[in-house]
Amino acid sequence: MKLTDLQRDMLEGRLGWPSQIAMRMLVAVGDAHDAEELIPVGSVHLGVSGMTMAEPGMRLLEKLAERGAKFVVPTTLNILSMERAAVGTVPAIRDREDVQLRIARACEAMGANPTYTCNPFLLGIQPARDESVAWNESATAPYINAMLGARTNREGATALASAVTGFTANYGMHVPRNRLGAALIEVTAPVSGSDDFSVLGGAVARACGTRIPVIEGFARPTLDEMTAFSAAFAAVSPLAMVHIVGVTPEAPTRAAAMAPGIAPDPVRIDAAALAAERARHVTAKDDAVDVIAIGCPHASFEQVQEVADAVEGRRIDGKVRFLVQVSRDCAGRAAQSGLAQRLAAAGVTLQADSCVHVAYDEIPAGRTLATNSLKIAYLTASHDVNVRFGTLHDCVRAGVAGRWTA
Ligand code: F3S
Repeated sequence: MKLTDLQRDMLEGRLGWPSQIAMRMLVAVGDAHDAEELIPVGSVHLGVSGMTMAEPGMRLLEKLAERGAKFVVPTTLNILSMERAAVGTVPAIRDREDVQLRIARACEAMGANPTYTCNPFLLGIQPARDESVAWNESATAPYINAMLGARTNREGATALASAVTGFTANYGMHVPRNRLGAALIEVTAPVSGSDDFSVLGGAVARACGTRIPVIEGFARPTLDEMTAFSAAFAAVSPLAMVHIVGVTPEAPTRAAAMAPGIAPDPVRIDAAALAAERARHVTAKDDAVDVIAIGCPHASFEQVQEVADAVEGRRIDGKVRFLVQVSRDCAGRAAQSGLAQRLAAAGVTLQADSCVHVAYDEIPAGRTLATNSLKIAYLTASHDVNVRFGTLHDCVRAGVAGRWTA
């Protein structure tokens, strides 16, 4: 791999231990992917969940911070395994809170922006077209690549190395030829709203397999629709890229998006395919509902408002825990506008910083989760928790009734 003088100085330790180990990681990953060089990144989004990093991750971050590491590009932080405002209030997770808080403190000491959300797009953080970035939350990758025309792989620990050095290995979605499509998908069913786009994300992932899809059949999705699609697609698919013809900057036409020599042999997604995709995620055998989670990825202010409007004048059944997962920023806006108070009066909890999937405070085995997010439904199905998957309004009705009614 060709390295610049700066990169070589980092690799050989002349600029300190933090950038040396970070550079070693990037070079090893780059070599594994036959990357010829390291390229600059414009920003990093870092996974910091205590559930996944645990004590080994905490020790690495603290050692980096103690040895003077600083994040050299704008770095935002993904969700935590607990809500910061709830520290000390949940006895079952007290013994693990310290690990999560120390992870967060170490990242902030190195200069991270304490966003603690999987949906930083709602905070106005949007990489520029053709900009390479290193973002760690899988749900963000299709949005970055398809909607913004920026470039990211689905990063793991290498995102930390990129934050410390400002570089990433030039492979995968950073290389234009690797971004071309290989499967044509025609959506013939009308799709509208985040609930539909979440289901569509799963259906497209299943239809394209490991081939980057080129999708036709709908107009430009809203930010909420596309983040719902992106999260669902990345949950079911290993890919980081989709093309939406007429929307993705690299896909003004079908021909521009498809790799040369691929015969257009479209797979059609109709209303029946969407209904089948929705049904596939239901594992509950009865109508019991214990926890309801809206906001995967983290809900926008408008989506919070939609829940408040849907539940207006009614109250969530006392046996049901109804959560709307949001960033701290969104929770603050909801409190200022009176929305949070309306929701609290109806028995709905705004949960900031975290989500049911990575929270220390897990849903007990054998209980039933209801959600309007295909990603949460898909991931939860691998645990010993039953799943109900429906629309936001299905979930609100179930919350009020205390059982699934759709
Ligand atoms: Fe975000 Fe948790 Fe969903 S991290 S994308 S709310 S599974």
